[in-house]
Amino acid sequence: MNVPRFIALIPAAGVGARMGATVPKQYAELLAKPMIEHVMDTFVDCDQIHQIFVVVSADDAYIDDIPTKPRTQILRCGGATRQASVTNGLQAMQSQVDPNDWILVHDAARPGLTVTLIDKLIAAVKDDPVGGLLALPVVDTIKRSDAHGHADHTVSREHLWAAQTPQMFKHAQLLIALQSGSHVTDEASAIEALGLKPTLVEGSPRNFKVTLPHDVLLAELYIKGIA
Ligand code: CTP
Ligand code: MG
Repeated sequence: MNVPRFIALIPAAGVGARMGATVPKQYAELLAKPMIEHVMDTFVDCDQIHQIFVVVSADDAYIDDIPTKPRTQILRCGGATRQASVTNGLQAMQSQVDPNDWILVHDAARPGLTVTLIDKLIAAVKDDPVGGLLALPVVDTIKRSDAHGHADHTVSREHLWAAQTPQMFKHAQLLIALQSGSHVTDEASAIEALGLKPTLVEGSPRNFKVTLPHDVLLAELYIKGIA
């Protein structure tokens, strides 16, 4: 069997409803560069990444304005959900990858990712039989509310993590997991549903997901290196 390679898959077919901007949020400019281009450049700058696939929707009107990048292919096969976009991307790349290659799925909406974080994930997971993901240990005191917005009880934060991306799994296994029926919001949940246990690797607050308009300023501070 070939030595597994490391391949990036960037789902970027969302509409950014919560951001409410005139363009999908992955095309919003951060320090005069579209969010998605920050993410593409970080993977291009990572020498360990063999190839980069970006999934956009079939009617995407903005991706052609992004300069072409080395080792990078655009797949116009986005789906109605993030899960569908990732599944379609895995299928579209199938003839170019080995079943045993590692796929690093990373949200286009996390522009704070760094080469150091990618290298950290790869180092921690490359010899693992299952795979793993960046995540942050929960630091806040966590409340579960009743239906009326009142604190019902406090949930212990022991062993609680907030999942980030990249999430790194073997191509064939990830495709099977995502196609196995359950609706999931990340790749790790699909792998967990197979009874497997992904490795949690400590990420960074700077790798947060840009979701709401006020997130843009914070993302710019992290990219500038101020925050
Ligand atoms: N995504 C995707 N295909 C979809 C939905 C989301 O590829 N059908 C991608 C987004 O482009 C983003 C990542 O998945 O890079 C994380 O999704 P999210 O932050 O929820 O982005 P949106 O779905 O675009 O935002 P919203 O939920 O506010 O509409
Ligand atoms: Mg969404």
